[in-house]
Amino acid sequence: MALTTATAIINLSALKHNLAQIKSLAPTTSVLAVLKANAYGHGLERIAKALFSEPEQTKGDCHSALMADAIAVARIDEALALRSSGITQPILLLEGFFDNKDLTILASHNLQTVVHNQQQLDAILAAKLKSPVKVWLKIDTGMHRLGINPEQYSYFYQQLTESTNVQDNIVLMSHLGCADDEGNEATHQQISLFEEITQGCNEERTLANSAGICAWPTSHYQWIRPGLLLYGVSPLSLDESSSEASRGLITDESKHLNIQPVMTLKSSLIAIRELEADEPVGYGGTWQSDKKTVMGVVAIGYGDGYPRHAKNGTPVLVNGRRVPLIGRVSMDMITVDLGIDSQDKVGDLVTLWGDNLPVAEIAKCATTIPYELLCNITRRVKVTLLAE
Ligand SMILES: Cc1ncc(COP(=O)(O)O)c(C=O)c1O
Repeated sequence: MALTTATAIINLSALKHNLAQIKSLAPTTSVLAVLKANAYGHGLERIAKALFSEPEQTKGDCHSALMADAIAVARIDEALALRSSGITQPILLLEGFFDNKDLTILASHNLQTVVHNQQQLDAILAAKLKSPVKVWLKIDTGMHRLGINPEQYSYFYQQLTESTNVQDNIVLMSHLGCADDEGNEATHQQISLFEEITQGCNEERTLANSAGICAWPTSHYQWIRPGLLLYGVSPLSLDESSSEASRGLITDESKHLNIQPVMTLKSSLIAIRELEADEPVGYGGTWQSDKKTVMGVVAIGYGDGYPRHAKNGTPVLVNGRRVPLIGRVSMDMITVDLGIDSQDKVGDLVTLWGDNLPVAEIAKCATTIPYELLCNITRRVKVTLLAE
């Protein structure tokens, strides 16, 4: 007996496919691939290497459809891990540096920084750096999270351009708060304001995350910043689509975008038993069948990152068919209703999300978002790579 426990299958061909699709949506832009939080749970270094690996037939072509142009992370440790693993391409810290001392590290490791507040500007102006750093100046156009106010833009821009600590190719940047909601007036306003603030400038600009790339072509500018889309998950709003999700329309959405899931989460059945009507299942006995059935126990739980709040009925793929989750999610196991006619066997493989079962649909059943499920995969989950 050799039963499979929680395993994330990472499909690097799907990653490359998604990158090519993204480039076809915004063909004249450069791609800043967002790899923060362990590349959304997919493995920082392996995803970075795949995004920069050049297929033989396109070697030397700097606009290869299969390569990213730069990487974005959120923490300096993530950037340094990439440098240690041999990544020499441009890396940007999306929230900039958190400690003034880090500026020297940025300069020595050729890391790029966002500047979004006065403290960061002051630190850059006061620093004594061996070489200037590249800056992406972040302006708040309405999300009200990070970024300088529009009125501060001229001052920041002037200070940065005059500093010998700053390279002369500043990128102007903002972030969209509601781009996943197609047609949302707030996004129109953010794009107009960004346009107004930066009009007449010769600098490169960037505004679009995945949802901007898909739904807001006027937000593309010179750099796009895909995260979720790279990993094969539709970024478009799932808020109103719970009924659509259960009818499988979210899968159609992904097909419309022509993206493929990079992560497929699998495990296996480790026990099967018959259940009489009214026998409770699992902690708290919160679920019981109204008729005789067959139930299966799958070796995955919240200790692996499967969401504890996934509700009864959350779909699980067993031997290619959708069966419902029943009872509470435990740390290491979940229980599913295989149905009275089940022919399933202990050891059969089970898909929790990924191929043929969009992670967005599972997120909806757990009242969360696909980003959280992907990031929450824990260390004990085995990883199997499907190479290009
Ligand atoms: C500034 C910025 N740009 C781009 C992204 C990528 O977003 P998404 O994964 O929705 O494409 C993020 C992610 O949160 C971000 O913070």
